[in-house]
Amino acid sequence: MTSSNRVLPAATGRADKDRFLEADVAHVVHPLTTLAARDPAALLMVTKGQGMSVTDIHGREYLDACAGLWNVNVGYGRKDIAKVAARELEQLGFGMLYIGRSTPPAAMLAARLAEIVPGRMQKFFFGLGGSDGNDTAIKLARRYHYLRDKATKTAIIGRTGSYHGSCYGAMSATGEASFWEGFGPLVPGFSHIDQPTRQAADAADQLEREILRLGPDRVAAFIAEPVSVPCGVVVPPPDYWGQIREICTRFDVLLIADEVITGFGRTGRMFALEHWGVTPDLIVMAKGLTSGYLPLSAVGIDDDVYDVISAAAGPFMHGFTAGGHPACCAVALRNIEILEEEGLVANARTVGDYLLSSLSPLIDDGLASDVRALGLMAAVDFARHPENVSRFDDTSVGKAIEHKMREEGILVRAFGDTVAIAPPLIVTRRHVDHIVGSMRRVATAVRNVPAATASARN
Ligand SMILES: Cc1ncc(COP(=O)(O)O)c(C=O)c1O
Repeated sequence: MTSSNRVLPAATGRADKDRFLEADVAHVVHPLTTLAARDPAALLMVTKGQGMSVTDIHGREYLDACAGLWNVNVGYGRKDIAKVAARELEQLGFGMLYIGRSTPPAAMLAARLAEIVPGRMQKFFFGLGGSDGNDTAIKLARRYHYLRDKATKTAIIGRTGSYHGSCYGAMSATGEASFWEGFGPLVPGFSHIDQPTRQAADAADQLEREILRLGPDRVAAFIAEPVSVPCGVVVPPPDYWGQIREICTRFDVLLIADEVITGFGRTGRMFALEHWGVTPDLIVMAKGLTSGYLPLSAVGIDDDVYDVISAAAGPFMHGFTAGGHPACCAVALRNIEILEEEGLVANARTVGDYLLSSLSPLIDDGLASDVRALGLMAAVDFARHPENVSRFDDTSVGKAIEHKMREEGILVRAFGDTVAIAPPLIVTRRHVDHIVGSMRRVATAVRNVPAATASARN
């Protein structure tokens, strides 16, 4: 490393900032960013975070109303989490779970997860992120059937509009074509049914029909997020998950709950499936497991499924070098303690209710066409008024609102004309008033802006 590319903690001078920004534009490949049309001026480079907020390289503070990527559940700047990580790294730079080795943090985290996940689950497999967690769950489902002499049961049914990650298995389970384009062929054996939107009253029945279409002796698992985010925070009807559980059990199909976003309090329960009293066969956790402080995923395995997997002769041939790194597991343990000590799951429930009731008037006032939320996962569909229909052809109303709220110092995330809000679970009513006030102001301004100037940067 030369002195010119070193990142010094005290580096705040103008020349340093320019160097960092130029290096990013010159060398970093950004996910979910239009690489051909990158606007260097739109680059948001953050350098620190505290509580609900992050600060960019120019010293500008933003209220992070999406908690990073729906993951910074306990908020930014937790010194005790940083200390736990530093202590582990000083003590043991690396420790693995391969070939029968272990570390105390990995063992204690697995034991802690066994106490809090829904269902009868004593065993946990550690990886690095939600994508590999879902790949692990998909592989476990196929191997479970294989070991029961049902090797034809390999098909995985997902849902249109769901996101499960960027690795090949998770990408194939993802039900959004833009994630597949140019990356094919996908992993064989994946198909998709509809989301349980208000328009799809038969969404659970569709699972049964799809199993029958494929043949029950061919289907390994159904994978879904309890509440799907990218298609606009689809909160299912009350009987959906119970029906899904019953259909999976009846056809000997494993139920994989992707709780990567919904886990660890986001919806006002520790895990979202608790809202409906449903227990999955495999549960995938990441994001809120460490509140994003370090990368980690965990897959919980139902005891009966584990009995089958563990009865096989020979080693379990699946793993990730850094999966269950001791520093990441120690951070997860402290993170779970904080969620419990500070009552953050209950806070997500009460402030979540307040968020929903604060957003709903946007519909009455003609600014939004629909609002949905469960705990601190909310989405607002912005109405396209007849006179505005063609105005946002090059972008979306949602992007315009995301962009203008950022100018007001608030970070939200747009999916088409829908804008998502998912703040850290430490959020207060005062923050909600601030976020919704900005959204209302901006939505009004975007509606009134002359057509020629209505555009937003990527
Ligand atoms: C529901 C869900 N599953 C899986 C993933 C993939 O997780 P990761 O980005 O950690 O691989 C995400 C990421 O946003 C997600 O939202």
